[in-house]
Order: sequence, then C-alpha cells, then structure tokens
Amino acid sequence: MKIFVDTADMEEIQEANEMGVLDGVTTNPTHISKQTGSFDDIIKEICEEVSGPVSAEVVATDFEGMMVEARHNASLANNVVVKIPITLDGLKAIKQCSDEGIKTNVTLCFSANQAMLAAKAGATYISPFMGRLDDVGHDGLDLIHQIRQIYDNYAFETEILGASLRSPKHVLDCALAGADVVTLPLDVLTKLLNHPLTDIGLERFLNDWKEWEAKQNGVPA
Ligand code: E4P
Repeated sequence: MKIFVDTADMEEIQEANEMGVLDGVTTNPTHISKQTGSFDDIIKEICEEVSGPVSAEVVATDFEGMMVEARHNASLANNVVVKIPITLDGLKAIKQCSDEGIKTNVTLCFSANQAMLAAKAGATYISPFMGRLDDVGHDGLDLIHQIRQIYDNYAFETEILGASLRSPKHVLDCALAGADVVTLPLDVLTKLLNHPLTDIGLERFLNDWKEWEAKQNGVPA
C-alpha cells in the first residue's frame, strides 16, 4: 500500500519524506490556504521535494474552467496529479483529462456510485473520505469495501486512495480492505510507529545493557 502525506506544509512534507516511506502528497484548497506564496510556487516546491504523485486541486466548478486549471496544474511539474471534485462538470473534466493523458485524483467521494463513474471516466485515483463519513454517523470503511468490490468486479484500474483518515485504525482498516493508497496527516503517519510495549521493551533492553557494561568495567551496580 502506498502512503501519501496530506498537507501543503513543506516542513511536514520534508519530515514525512525523511521517514523513507513516503510515496506522494495530497493537497487541497484548505491546505494551500494555510501557506504563504503563490499556488504555483507551493506546488512546484512540493514536487521538487517528493518525486511521487503530488495532487493539486482545481477550484473552478465549471467544465471549461476546470480544464484550464487542470492543464495549468499539470504543466507545473511532471509528477502533478490534478485533483477534481466528483460533480457533473467534474466527471466531464476527469474524462477529458484522461483523454489528454493528465492524471487525476477524484476528490470528495462519498458513495460507491460516484467512485464507479469516476473509474469509468478514467480517473487515476478515487479519494473516498472515510473520516468525514464517520463524522456524520456513516461507516467510511463500508465505502472502501464497496469500491474495492466494484473495481475488482469490473477490473477498473483506478486506484483507491483512502482519504480523510484520522487515526492509525483508519489506516489499518484501509490496508485490510485493499485500498491501494492512504493519505495521512503527518501526526497520523507518525502514530503508526507508536506502541507502548516497544517503548517499554527498548527501555528494558537499554537498562540491562548499561548494567552489563558497568559489570564489565568492574563498576558495582
Ligand atoms: C484528501 O485528499 C483530502 O485532502 C483530505 O484527506 C481531507 O481530510 P479531512 O476530512 O481531514 O479534511
């Protein structure tokens, strides 16, 4: 399973990249709004740091406007993936991008039917938003299972990108359900490493080692 980090903050992206397991980045207008500088410069800088796919979202809501932005965003770097919401105009733009060889990440997906249409239109990635579904009392994991089944039934090549993930449990659920990718805030990515027994075990090993070393050197414990 590929791991993307979900942010436009360069320090967070660098920190995630230094972990050595980062495959890509997703941004959205909310992430961009927290940064300074132009959209183009922010995306270019991220694309220089990370060689994998970097999602850059359109903000136009009409087909023509989306295509202007999609072509522009795709021209910023070779690894840009254009993020497009799953609306009627969005669907047309996804198909047009597919015809033009522009990679897409279809965002704001909350139903399996939306995911099926995105795949038929040639989306590169579909982003089901697990956390936001859970927030309103639905089960985000059900959606991942449904999309996996539909894509496998019909051999759709669109990759399932679990998004809006809020916890390590979400990540585990996505991995077990066969998601191709997850995108995570840095704090969730970091939490994947944590286990109290690892900390306790390490502390005990190091203490035993120190005692043994002291004995070797003839220092009484
Ligand atoms: C994914 O591409 C989205 O940017 C992101 O996962 C949304 O997460 P949120 O629901 O925590 O805002």
